[in-house]
Amino acid sequence: MKAGQFDPSQYVQDHASEGEFLVHRDVFRDPEIFDLEMKNIFESSWVFLGLTSQLKKTNDFFTTWIGRQPVIVSRDASGKIHCLLNTCRHRGAIVAHTRQGNERHHICQYHGWAYDSAGKCVSVKDEADALYAEGFSAESHDLVAVPRLAEYRGLLFASLVDDVVPIEEHLGGAKAFIDLVVDQGRDGVELLPGTGTYTFRANWKLQIENCVDGYHLTSTHPSFMKIVERRKLGESRTPLRNIDFNLYGSLSVVSGGFTFPYGHAVLWSGNPAPETRPIFPAIEEVRSRVGDVRARWMLKARNLTLFPNVQFAESASLQMRVIRPIAPDLTEMTIHCIAPVGEAPAVRANRIRLYEDFFNSTGLATPDDSQTYEDCQTGFRALSVNRMQGYHRGMKSVQSGADEYARELGIEPATSQNGPFAIQDETLFHACYREWLRLMNKAQQADGDTR
Ligand code: FES
Ligand SMILES: [Fe+2]
Repeated sequence: MKAGQFDPSQYVQDHASEGEFLVHRDVFRDPEIFDLEMKNIFESSWVFLGLTSQLKKTNDFFTTWIGRQPVIVSRDASGKIHCLLNTCRHRGAIVAHTRQGNERHHICQYHGWAYDSAGKCVSVKDEADALYAEGFSAESHDLVAVPRLAEYRGLLFASLVDDVVPIEEHLGGAKAFIDLVVDQGRDGVELLPGTGTYTFRANWKLQIENCVDGYHLTSTHPSFMKIVERRKLGESRTPLRNIDFNLYGSLSVVSGGFTFPYGHAVLWSGNPAPETRPIFPAIEEVRSRVGDVRARWMLKARNLTLFPNVQFAESASLQMRVIRPIAPDLTEMTIHCIAPVGEAPAVRANRIRLYEDFFNSTGLATPDDSQTYEDCQTGFRALSVNRMQGYHRGMKSVQSGADEYARELGIEPATSQNGPFAIQDETLFHACYREWLRLMNKAQQADGDTR
């Protein structure tokens, strides 16, 4: 990018109605564009923080990031949840160092200022001896709360700017897919112990795309598919029955997807072997609560991306992934196995085995995916190649608004797409880039920002 000449429409050109959707490779490799993404997307819109179930007790907290900025998410002594910038008011040190914990007070290790779990400064060390002038004492020393914090069904979101739509509007029709996760448990879902964190040397949007990319399955994950096949034939000592993508080549398996405003997208597919789903043993109880239609949807494979930083992947097991971009070519992933609260022990054990098998950072899928992202990032070094050709499969199957599957769920998406699994549609990625363009344009118009 030439300094002072950023024009978002040069990087994303949305002509889907004419069969064209162009994404420039610089959005994956240009450090200046990355900085603008952090400022105009992650630090200017709703970002996922975590689950309220991570804060079960008073004074529980976890730390995370909103874009490049460190935050503490904390349940105070009265039970109220706060999202606070993790920076001491004195000289800036972070006051919470661990990923999670339970602390009545966060005490800064530099000069000892102390904050309670609501962020209130309860001690300026040795204040009485300090000969502070009046101006200092009149100032608030509390940790700074982020402007917006909201919850939907136990999912916590925050925004560093006040100018965002209400969270219900932001999530829109994607809420139905959050509900399909949360309602699997009578009392909701919880994170299982054993969080995984890893990095890949590639751009964060490769992860955004991959979650709703059915096209890569047979070429990136043949080892997983072969192992599932060998287990079926009795050639493996592992009795595990995981999702069988070998069956998906059949034209009888219908799949589809939806895009929603604000960048969200979901990929779904019918499941020819629903008994492999971890929820299956409990499905009658679930059906009695949520009805037949939604119980059937819970048995489908569903991958949901809530732009820009969280995904719920429900194929082999049920995974929550939080995406943290660090640099144009470096991304940190934090992954969790999630499960219905109060699940039967044997069902829970099987769920964890299925998760380890496919989703875990040591599983049969995740390392393959990360490797392909890094291969793409290496390929992006070929600077004379600018245009990506990966946004066009399935274009003829896209319809605006709801299809029969959306109507079944009672949702009104921006676009719907369905057909034989073999289409392996790529139009779901459009949601991400439409929101990218909207937020980049909004920032430009707001302040004439060129950097
Ligand atoms: S930086 Fe926190 S007390 Fe000095
Ligand atoms: Fe994959």
